[in-house]
Amino acid sequence: MSLEKAVVVATRGLPKAIEVRMSELFRTSLNKDDSPFSREQLIEAVQTADVLVPTVTDNIDAALLKQAGPQLKMIANFGVGVNHIDLEEARARGILVTNTPGVLTEDTADMTMALLLSVTRRLAEGERLVRSGEWNGWAPTTMLGARLWGKRLGIIGMGRIGQAVARRAKGFGIAVHYHNRNQISEEIEQELDATYWDDLDQMLGHMDLVSVNTPLTASTHHILNAERLALLQPHCFVINTSRGEVIDEEALADILAAGKLAGAALDVYEKEPEVNPKLIDLNNVVLLPHLGSATVEGRVQMGERVIINIKSFVDGHRPPDRIFEAML
Ligand code: DGY
Repeated sequence: MSLEKAVVVATRGLPKAIEVRMSELFRTSLNKDDSPFSREQLIEAVQTADVLVPTVTDNIDAALLKQAGPQLKMIANFGVGVNHIDLEEARARGILVTNTPGVLTEDTADMTMALLLSVTRRLAEGERLVRSGEWNGWAPTTMLGARLWGKRLGIIGMGRIGQAVARRAKGFGIAVHYHNRNQISEEIEQELDATYWDDLDQMLGHMDLVSVNTPLTASTHHILNAERLALLQPHCFVINTSRGEVIDEEALADILAAGKLAGAALDVYEKEPEVNPKLIDLNNVVLLPHLGSATVEGRVQMGERVIINIKSFVDGHRPPDRIFEAML
């Protein structure tokens, strides 16, 4: 594929500097008003683009890819999670898939800590109280939260983001525990003072805080299901900045409503942008609109990685962030 001829279709509005650079480098079709693509628009995109640049809001499933024209050679995802793309179908059709790892690690870890603080110290609730005009002033026994210092945090998924959360948690005086497919290196375990649990069920029952930081795959779907949520101690808080589907949201809402869990702080949901109404009704739940990577710096760097991946590909090189090799 030659550089001049590459047709790149971006499904969402991207940071200005990224749109400008992409338009300079490729024959780029931008989404000027940023409304999410309809199914029809996605079909048109896969039938015309050499390179599709989707985001987490696009469902790039097998049925869609089966309608792709032979010119579609690459899906350069704007984002690290690729659970919205049918990777097997893409691979079978010879379509290369890339993502944007690394550049949103620190922002997502910051957001995890923000949620951890928010739910344990009741920040969102306190803010609502002040704005309601019903705050009566300081009192020794009102709006008491839970201290973070000395607590035990169980991180599910100790990849880049999990480790960045652990680094921050250590600074807050929190003891780091983790469950991961593979135990991390002894050197990093020592740096983070992290304790490995091979058995997730065992770990859950011993934690004060649990943060899910694993990508969504077939094996992590509902990794916190009703049975596992029931293992948590009633004073435990659950934080999720990964993907909604890693937790059984209905079971989480029920267990919170039953008072069997201290609280939850969520940035992601099973059916975004829908949020389970049971969660909205609960005071001890902090709800954010998928903001994990939402910094100006992060989104520009994500765009830069998308451009590097596309440019490497159209120049005949191997893009750095290929998913298939990463999966092996
Ligand atoms: C990511 O990069 O996966 C973010 O969640 C946005 O999609």
